[in-house]
Amino acid sequence: MKAFYVEKLAHPNDIPISLNAPTPIPKEGEVLVDVYSAGLNFFDILQCQGKYQKRPALPFVAGTEFAGRVSRNSPIPPGCPFKRGDRVFGATQGAFAEVVAVPCLTLLPLPDVVSFKDGGGLYVTWPTSYEALVGRGQLQAGEWVLVTAAAGGVGVAAVQIAKALGAKVIAAAGSDEKVDIAMRYGGADYGINYANPGWPKEVMKLTGGKGVDVVYDAVGLVKDSLKCVAWKARILVVGFASGTIDQVPMNIVLLKNISVVGLHWGGYEKSEPARIAVVWKELLDMLATGKIKPVNYTQHFTLDTIKDGLAALETRKTWGKAIMEVRKEFEAAL
Ligand SMILES: NC(=O)c1ccc[n+]([C@@H]2O[C@H](COP(=O)([O-])OP(=O)(O)OC[C@H]3O[C@@H](n4cnc5c(N)ncnc54)[C@H](OP(=O)(O)O)[C@@H]3O)[C@@H](O)[C@H]2O)c1
Repeated sequence: MKAFYVEKLAHPNDIPISLNAPTPIPKEGEVLVDVYSAGLNFFDILQCQGKYQKRPALPFVAGTEFAGRVSRNSPIPPGCPFKRGDRVFGATQGAFAEVVAVPCLTLLPLPDVVSFKDGGGLYVTWPTSYEALVGRGQLQAGEWVLVTAAAGGVGVAAVQIAKALGAKVIAAAGSDEKVDIAMRYGGADYGINYANPGWPKEVMKLTGGKGVDVVYDAVGLVKDSLKCVAWKARILVVGFASGTIDQVPMNIVLLKNISVVGLHWGGYEKSEPARIAVVWKELLDMLATGKIKPVNYTQHFTLDTIKDGLAALETRKTWGKAIMEVRKEFEAAL
């Protein structure tokens, strides 16, 4: 099968697309899924180079998030709620391929209103932002939220979810164009460009001198954000897209009664599996009722151009979710 098949660790630019990668053989409890679309993530780039915490044995197929249909020749394990041909989405190692093997019980049904294209970037991105804001941040309607990298994959999802929950949202991004995108597609109330030094002062001004109640940070801007938070603020540590891991001055954490809260969505499978279904029930309801809507980067990629997609992601050119089309029908919803 055609796949982004890593035989030797390297930067994605230096990995050729394979036309004869082995079709996966499903293990016990797994089904085969025909991949229609896949979501691109920064960690895919790291993994190809052996720089990510999850290091599959070589050779492996790269990619994680996908949407597709249970294959016509797939085994259906006992207790599997899906049948051949069902529309599904999920995440597992090997999504940058025509076919992926995936534990059946981790799959979710792709809602009728959601196209394969939109479904390809749901599985990691949306629950990360939901659980950060709701489960960890205890976000309440009427509170002020600052979202960094607000036009990015998890960021624009966080903006939409915070708005759907009734918060007042300040979208922060690294260029005026991205601020505009976060406001247009995320529905943020205000936008600020953190390329401007002194941006926390703008946040203080917007909040009438109070500061924000919640910071959602996927960049590594915790230290700067401490300058514009309210009493009892919650700072959600979601990622370090800038490559910088903040050193936080604990005296400010103490003085303002701040909670610094981590979120590792990938850790729920092992540490808190029951919470996963709760989060997805909420998100699928929000999707079905149109309260949230996936946002995709305008250009989509294919297995032949996946390297361009990963390069665009790596150089901060993309916004929303960068998506790869694997089969032609990927725009289809029911
Ligand atoms: N905790 C979890 O469970 C979890 C789950 C998923 C993702 N994450 C993490 O969240 C972060 C964002 O993920 P994403 O999927 O939203 O990525 P993304 O779509 O690529 O967005 C990342 C954004 O970060 C900003 N950024 C600032 N400095 C950057 C730099 N030096 N290099 C690259 N980007 C930079 C860019 O926006 P501007 O140009 O506007 O600054 C960029 O668009 C990643 O670190 C990812 O690993 C964490």
